[in-house]
Amino acid sequence: MNLKEEEYDANKSYHEIIYSTDWEKNKPKEYFEYRQKWVDYPKNKFLSEFPLHLDIETTNVCNLKCPMCPRTILLEKHQFSAQGYMSNDDYKKIIDQAVENGVYSIKLNYLGEPLLHKDVIWQVKYAKEAGIIDVMMNSNGSMLNKKIGEDLLEAGLDKLFISFDSISPDIYEIQRKGTSLGTVVNNLHEFLKIRNEKYPNTHVRVSMVMYKTDEWIAQFEGLKAMWKNLVDAVGYGFYVERDYDNVEKYEVVKGFYCEQLFQRMFLKYNGNVTVCCVDDQDEYIVGNWKNEKLEDIWNSKAYTNIRKKHLEGKYMDINMCSKCYLPVSE
Ligand SMILES: C[S@@+](CC[C@H](N)C(=O)[O-])C[C@H]1O[C@@H](n2cnc3c(N)ncnc32)[C@H](O)[C@@H]1O
Ligand code: SF4
Repeated sequence: MNLKEEEYDANKSYHEIIYSTDWEKNKPKEYFEYRQKWVDYPKNKFLSEFPLHLDIETTNVCNLKCPMCPRTILLEKHQFSAQGYMSNDDYKKIIDQAVENGVYSIKLNYLGEPLLHKDVIWQVKYAKEAGIIDVMMNSNGSMLNKKIGEDLLEAGLDKLFISFDSISPDIYEIQRKGTSLGTVVNNLHEFLKIRNEKYPNTHVRVSMVMYKTDEWIAQFEGLKAMWKNLVDAVGYGFYVERDYDNVEKYEVVKGFYCEQLFQRMFLKYNGNVTVCCVDDQDEYIVGNWKNEKLEDIWNSKAYTNIRKKHLEGKYMDINMCSKCYLPVSE
């Protein structure tokens, strides 16, 4: 593979090329404090009273069937949980607790397409008006029409991450089954026009899932050429095999513990709260947001036990962690 080291360091889990940081110029000082805490808390093994960030699965419904996605894989095996949309009362309950406890950021998705929720604009507005500094989402971009785009910006969305998996229409339509490259390109161009004219503080990034082959490196080169200086960053994350039955345990990595355990919690549509972005199958559930307080879940015995295992160097005792790519990519 012909790689430029700074761009393609396979030892890190996410890679991005930054074109602009203008969107950061007007952020309040609390934003930079929070970014610093994001780094410092795990580094110092500091456990705050409440997570810095919440991932909230406002819906687990999706309009696409991307073959690499754990959602698609679980659906095909009839193992995906019941689908639906979070109620506004539940959403409010979560945001109100988050704000009361000083949460800095939220992401409005887990396994699903956040733009399919009919109240997504209200969700963004409610969180922004409540004082959450960084409101973001990943989206496949297929539903990002001009109206939704403008309304999201007006509501105060801080960051939009568009998944964009190939520059070749044929491959794109295999990887993002159910939409087309042209649809998402048009949507994003329209969105960027409005962003540039009226909402320069909103960050926009396009990202792809990368496979370790020359063809996919070339795809990323194409992605950069396509979006250079139009978006603020382009990036990729390596493909992760999410069907754990097919994954062997890795060798133990001495000194590894997971940073996420000091940063965030993941709230799924079905009520389960988990510690990790790859816990698609609800293997390590530490609580239920429907009937427990979020601060109690963050400090629960189950969550504490997982942190303890990690800090004692015994993360391999946890099946999900023993098969996670992160330790081997540090
Ligand atoms: C599960 S999606 C949910 C949000 C939205 N529907 C989307 O596609 O962006 C969140 C992110 O996970 C990525 N993803 C899906 N399957 C993956 C896999 N097997 N390995 C790595 N990333 C994956 C997607 O490309 C997307 O950027
Ligand atoms: S659009 Fe997102 S959630 Fe939907 S199948 Fe694709 S990766 Fe999964």
